[in-house]
Amino acid sequence: MDVEALEREALAAIAEARSADELEEVRVRTLGRKSPLKLALREVRDRKSGMALNAIRERVEQGLAARQAELAQPTEDPTFDPTLPGDEIPRGSYHLITRQRRRIEDVFVGMGYEIFDGREVDTVENNFDALNTAEEHPSRDPRDTFYLDDNTVLRTHTSPSQIRAMRAMEPPVYVASLGRVYRRDTLDATHTPIFHQVEALAVDRHVTLADLRGTMRAFAEAIFGGTREIRMRTSFFPFTEPSVEFDMTCFLCDGAGCAVCKHSGWIEMGGAGEVDPNVLAGVGYDPDEWQGFAWGLGIDRIAFARHGLPDLRLFWENDIRFLSQF
Ligand code: DAH
Repeated sequence: MDVEALEREALAAIAEARSADELEEVRVRTLGRKSPLKLALREVRDRKSGMALNAIRERVEQGLAARQAELAQPTEDPTFDPTLPGDEIPRGSYHLITRQRRRIEDVFVGMGYEIFDGREVDTVENNFDALNTAEEHPSRDPRDTFYLDDNTVLRTHTSPSQIRAMRAMEPPVYVASLGRVYRRDTLDATHTPIFHQVEALAVDRHVTLADLRGTMRAFAEAIFGGTREIRMRTSFFPFTEPSVEFDMTCFLCDGAGCAVCKHSGWIEMGGAGEVDPNVLAGVGYDPDEWQGFAWGLGIDRIAFARHGLPDLRLFWENDIRFLSQF
């Protein structure tokens, strides 16, 4: 028997083994009980050829052990060290305003409302005229409102979505519209020239202020939890009659008075009212048949209050240390 050829073939097979399983096959084939080497060893009669065969066996065993150690490395990449901690892949998260906005949308959808998208760039007609806003109303002043041209503004509130929704749908209408609004405010801790509102509009037969109050309360409890009382104060908006501003009992102290509610027990929510008959008639609804309520409130302020934030500018600075907390 050509024992040298046996050794060469065994070592070549070992080198070619690509996995522990393949290597095990080679081991059985070259050193197993029925391998030519073992059979030859069993038949050995003289010391010299016995020693030669044993030397081959040893070299093959060494070869197997060395290849086994090599295959045990997870990769042949010499720069890969499996004992080092891995790189952490940073995970993104939604901006706090986006999260708040989606929660609000969920609450409205849960109450049977449709989410309606308005336009950030809208007509003066939709933003003011159709909302019954007098020619001399101060909100039309270019020192307060961003005009793109004489007939076009960056919307100053989400209320023009009411007009768009009513023009697009037949009553009854139950819609909520959320998004950015723009005002020429000087940036400080409590004012940003861009902020977010949520507009609610319900038009149906016999819709009263009691419906408005009940819906607000359900909304406030869904967003802030617990049992919330709603307080309405008389106010004025051109597009509602009567108009109110509404507050809810503080979500932190339940009305007892604390720092969040400035010790009043109440948190201001926004403006609301019964949709003015002029607005209904303007979009072609018969005000004798249909009534509605509407409200608008600031999303930023809700997030601000819920998280006890010190400064609205945090929403815009994109500081990852702030953003990654939500
Ligand atoms: N648009 C008003 C604002 O930005 C808020 C508002 C008040 C919305 C009364 C309404 C409403 O829908 O009925 O200050």
